[in-house]
Amino acid sequence: MQPYSVETYVSDIKAIVAAESDDAAIGEKIKPLAQRLAADDSWFKSEYLEVDDEQGFGLHLLFEEDNHDLAVFVIAWAPGKGLAAHNHKTWAVVSGIRGQEHETNYKRVDDGSKPGFADLEQTHSATLLPGNAVCCLPEDIHSVWNNGDQIAVSLHTYGRHLNHTGRSIFDVEAKTESPCIVKVEE
Ligand SMILES: [Fe+2]
Repeated sequence: MQPYSVETYVSDIKAIVAAESDDAAIGEKIKPLAQRLAADDSWFKSEYLEVDDEQGFGLHLLFEEDNHDLAVFVIAWAPGKGLAAHNHKTWAVVSGIRGQEHETNYKRVDDGSKPGFADLEQTHSATLLPGNAVCCLPEDIHSVWNNGDQIAVSLHTYGRHLNHTGRSIFDVEAKTESPCIVKVEE
């Protein structure tokens, strides 16, 4: 297979987004391209394996539009680390590169009318491995954690940079919703 670059991936995504407005269709069209880029190590740098010792993860921005639309990251999780239940408020495609990460999906069972309150029910969970990819819609809620014994690395593509979507993080036990303040690099 021909090498695939981040630049070509980004231009392929731009063509998809220009021709398609449905978030689910955008995700399904990007998914095989994300899997192809994730499987190609021609662009991969060893620094993408680095994680912040305190936070337990590393975020590496590969591409972002000037207006913050379309952002591509490599995210690395240390073993046992992850992010509690959250939404993205934009479409997302995640493809495994190395290691493994466990994804739990939730549905919201309250009507969202009470500020700060959210009642979530677990619907599905699966471990994402290299070669796999998953798509999320803007309101989908999931948690992820590295359930392996080595660094987990994955390719994340979002319809908008996560600093600019107003996404939420949830405490499933306490039934709370709050602004997701896990800031990612600009
Ligand atoms: Fe996520």
